[in-house]
Amino acid sequence: MPLDAVRVGRGKVAPPGAARVQPNLGEYERVRRDFTWDSARGWLAGLPDERGLNIAHEAVDRHAEGPRAGKVAVVCRDRQGRISELTYGQLRSSTSRFANLLRDLGLAPGESVFSLLGRVPELYVTALGTLKHTSVFAPLFPGLGPEPIRQRLLLGDARVLVTTPELYKREVAPIRDRVPGLAHVLLVGNRTAAGDTIDLHAALARADETFEIPPTDPRTPALLHFTSGATGRPKGALHVHEAVVAHHATAAYALDLHESDVFWCTADPGWVTGTSYGIIAPLTHGATLVVDAADFDVHGWYELLQEQRVNVFYTTPTALRMLMRYGVDRARAYDLSALRFIASVGEPLNAEVVLWGQEAFGRPVHDTWWQTETGAIMISNFASMDVRPGSMGRPVPGVKVALLERGEDGRALVIDGEVHEIRSPEAVGEIALRQGWPSMFRSYVGDAEVGVGPAGRSPGGAGTTQRYDACFADGWYLTGDVARRDNDGYYWFLGRTDDVIKSAGQLIGPFEVESVLMSHPAVAEACVIGKPDRVAGEIVKAFVTLRPGCEPSDDLRLDILAFGRRALGALAPKEMAFEAQLPRTRSGKVLRRLLKARELGQPDGDLFIPQPRG
Ligand code: WT7
Repeated sequence: MPLDAVRVGRGKVAPPGAARVQPNLGEYERVRRDFTWDSARGWLAGLPDERGLNIAHEAVDRHAEGPRAGKVAVVCRDRQGRISELTYGQLRSSTSRFANLLRDLGLAPGESVFSLLGRVPELYVTALGTLKHTSVFAPLFPGLGPEPIRQRLLLGDARVLVTTPELYKREVAPIRDRVPGLAHVLLVGNRTAAGDTIDLHAALARADETFEIPPTDPRTPALLHFTSGATGRPKGALHVHEAVVAHHATAAYALDLHESDVFWCTADPGWVTGTSYGIIAPLTHGATLVVDAADFDVHGWYELLQEQRVNVFYTTPTALRMLMRYGVDRARAYDLSALRFIASVGEPLNAEVVLWGQEAFGRPVHDTWWQTETGAIMISNFASMDVRPGSMGRPVPGVKVALLERGEDGRALVIDGEVHEIRSPEAVGEIALRQGWPSMFRSYVGDAEVGVGPAGRSPGGAGTTQRYDACFADGWYLTGDVARRDNDGYYWFLGRTDDVIKSAGQLIGPFEVESVLMSHPAVAEACVIGKPDRVAGEIVKAFVTLRPGCEPSDDLRLDILAFGRRALGALAPKEMAFEAQLPRTRSGKVLRRLLKARELGQPDGDLFIPQPRG
């Protein structure tokens, strides 16, 4: 039986005791027809007296002013397993203190505040306090090494960085003098701090605990997320305050989030999922957000789901495959009766995992598809519909999806001024999204200056060009992902049009890794590919050639791998091979795809060489 013929029911085998909740999205076709983003804007409060739309007001203040002041907004489990809670009222005063602190430091609206923190309460206060102040919040994943951190601080023109003494010492101090614009470093716990840093807790204690959010035009820059491109530097995708309309609506429709829910999103806020859904969306719903500071641990995860009585769980295929390794019985050993909805994002969710979810939890896993650039879920399997295992689902209401073919020049095929859209119901092509959803990214920061010196100035500043423009054609955003659409309008992921590697849900730009490897004294050239891996989807594998006089050896291989790890952290290659020379095109470009095909044991002639993006 072909997999798309297998349908998994909607909780027909619900675990006993699971609450019956009416899905937010009932009849798909009707909701999709009637939906407008304007109506979704109306589900939010807006700043009083028509002063605009601010994410922090929707996520915090409006609840703190009403009957939810005493409701738990965030439950944090620290690495030692201790639980702490913040009510909406407490979150309001701590984020107001943070906003006042930024003002006292002389930060201007639109300037950027970076975080390099584990999932500690201060991260959430930093994010929402920054948004209150109408500065731009730019979270960094704390697994990054000094080089990727420096690149991102420069690209986003960091003015303030919030981090810990340990991370500061190890990752930031070595590069701080090469980030001249970074005016203030705030440390969570100042015991071991070096000079030229500020103790965050002491500074917050001195700051005023009331703050009036300034008028916020919905198009005010709010969030800066870094993502990886196939070539050149990482990209900083900038989102604006009105993105919250999409965060809120998609959490309701695609994650079936209700106000009464306890919600756990396992993603780190250093990635877009961990901010859109790991901070903002659940709070805009007045739900309770669960945060786990620790990394994956099978007992720890099931225990947290059980103890916090999590209703809605949003995670990744890699994490689910790790749970799967421990078997169905392990899952059934815990009381997960509160769990109503499970969703996944970030990489292809194989059908096997969807079906395993049904067996282990009595619930299928709902795949969702989106990108850093889209800011919110665009395609999804919904609570009220059958899940097609292996399919990403159907477009979210308000999102128009097309499958496009690109012309020879790598742009979309444009016919009579219109992008050529494949109209047959069954089709294969590049996923394109009609412009106009609120969480669409508005620029790649520093884009205007690409290739002409230092990073761009203000993230909100003028000049969005080359890389950004290359993502659009005639009102469509081109995603760089290729999919198939079946007869019923479900989308199936096929692959990417570029060389970007997806490892454990994280995009890794090959160029960023190769540049670092090539700075090792023994390395002449380097090329990295994504090598298929059962759990992580892909891992980074490097191929290097050596400088004259250097001989391949196991010691040298380990030395280069360790060198990569120190500089790159989580982006570093896990495997490496020496090559006498790298295969190149006639114009001299390294043929990554050829190395990949060889690694996969495919004949070279079978190469699919699609057009690069941006
Ligand atoms: C890329 C975007 C936004 C979520 C976190 C990742 C891949 C995402 C799926 C899925 C297959 C997926 C795509 C996409 N991807 N979701 N359900 N099935 N692939 O954001 O780091 O910007 O990565 O992740 O290739 O383009 P991101």
